[in-house]
Amino acid sequence: MHHTVQLTESVHWIGVNDRKTRLFENLWPLENGIAYNSYLIDDDKVALIDTVEHSSAEEYIDKIQSIIGSERKVDYLVVNHMEPDHSGAIRALVNQYPEIRIVGNQKTFKILSAYYGLESNHYGVKKEEEIDLGHHTLKFIMTPWVHWPETMMTYEKTQKILFSGDAFGSFGSLDGGIFDDEINFDFYREEMRRYFSNIVGKYSNMVQKAFKKLEGIDINIVAATHGPVWRHDPNRVLSLYDQWSRFESEKGVVLIFGSMYGNTEKMADYIARRIAEKGIKNIRVRDASKTHLSHLINEVWRYRGVVLGSSAYNTQMVPTMEHLTNTLEHIGAKNHYLGIFGSFSWNGGGVKKLTEFAEKTDWEMVAEPVEAQGVADQQTFEQCDQLAQAMADKLNQME
Ligand SMILES: Cc1cc2nc3c(=O)[nH]c(=O)nc-3n(C[C@H](O)[C@H](O)[C@H](O)COP(=O)(O)O)c2cc1C
Ligand SMILES: [Fe+2]
Ligand SMILES: [Fe+2]
Repeated sequence: MHHTVQLTESVHWIGVNDRKTRLFENLWPLENGIAYNSYLIDDDKVALIDTVEHSSAEEYIDKIQSIIGSERKVDYLVVNHMEPDHSGAIRALVNQYPEIRIVGNQKTFKILSAYYGLESNHYGVKKEEEIDLGHHTLKFIMTPWVHWPETMMTYEKTQKILFSGDAFGSFGSLDGGIFDDEINFDFYREEMRRYFSNIVGKYSNMVQKAFKKLEGIDINIVAATHGPVWRHDPNRVLSLYDQWSRFESEKGVVLIFGSMYGNTEKMADYIARRIAEKGIKNIRVRDASKTHLSHLINEVWRYRGVVLGSSAYNTQMVPTMEHLTNTLEHIGAKNHYLGIFGSFSWNGGGVKKLTEFAEKTDWEMVAEPVEAQGVADQQTFEQCDQLAQAMADKLNQME
């Protein structure tokens, strides 16, 4: 017997926590786990919104039966998103409920058949189309590329619940608290930004388009596929996602360096100290060879100021910095103040490659690149002073 969690009298959270998987998408660290949220609407017709990852399928079906019993059938499964973290239990569901109608759009069904060979049970919906469950009505909002081409949101009109898919989601398992009024948000703010920046951030303009489609829709509860359910203050999560997808960041700076023997690291510490002396309090210094890319991207998204350092490594940047800058370019991070620096011994490479990165972004370079030959000398430290001063000036102009 499961203890069920209710969003309203007839809408249940039937998600699961995953504390075993080390890397989400086999890429992004899950030190704090993740939740795969699914929902059940217990009406004249029974509807599920998304499923869970396949290894929890049995527990998932148990949860469904603990609510509707073993005799009643599930009428609809709404598939807002086909990524396997949500579609993983579809096959088990179809085995359990062979008549279930799988609700999706044309793109959903293409992926459904490609992944699971499921060619039947399809119930295609178009934008703004509705399904009446008895006392609840589901309406579908097409929000492509948040996070895949087929992604859509489902709005329950009677109780004003937005089942938003990955949008408004977060890393971090749900450790007892499931609703926003039951948790300490300090933890989820970090995990939510990290999730946004790592997974959804590349599609920021599509998130903005999704917001346009949500205009005028009254939302009481935001129920995403990961992270807390927002019933107390749904505007909080909506406004954070709005800020992040508009590339609005905080007053502060992250300095990230790649350094083999410490010459570049010393410059990072020096610049950070100088910025602190100018009154900037949010400063983080990170070694790209130690801190995972996932956390670096999160901090770049967080702070307006970004200072990147690399020594020369076989005419290139240090590989971890190359990975970072390639990824930042790929996800199209925008709206930063930038400083670059590094160290070399013969023909250089690190600062040269960082400069090429800088030219490809629209980030504002606040000062000339600083490059030391070997250990930074007095003149190089003076150039570091100028970089620090320029960065602090820019940041201090923010309100
Ligand atoms: C494996 C390796 C490759 C290097 N490749 C270059 C290079 O291509 N060009 C250059 O000018 N210096 C190169 N260097 C020298 C370093 O960039 C230089 O010693 C620098 O001061 C190291 O700074 P760090 O202590 O921050 O790593 C290389 C050093 C190592 C160990
Ligand atoms: Fe996804
Ligand atoms: Fe997801």
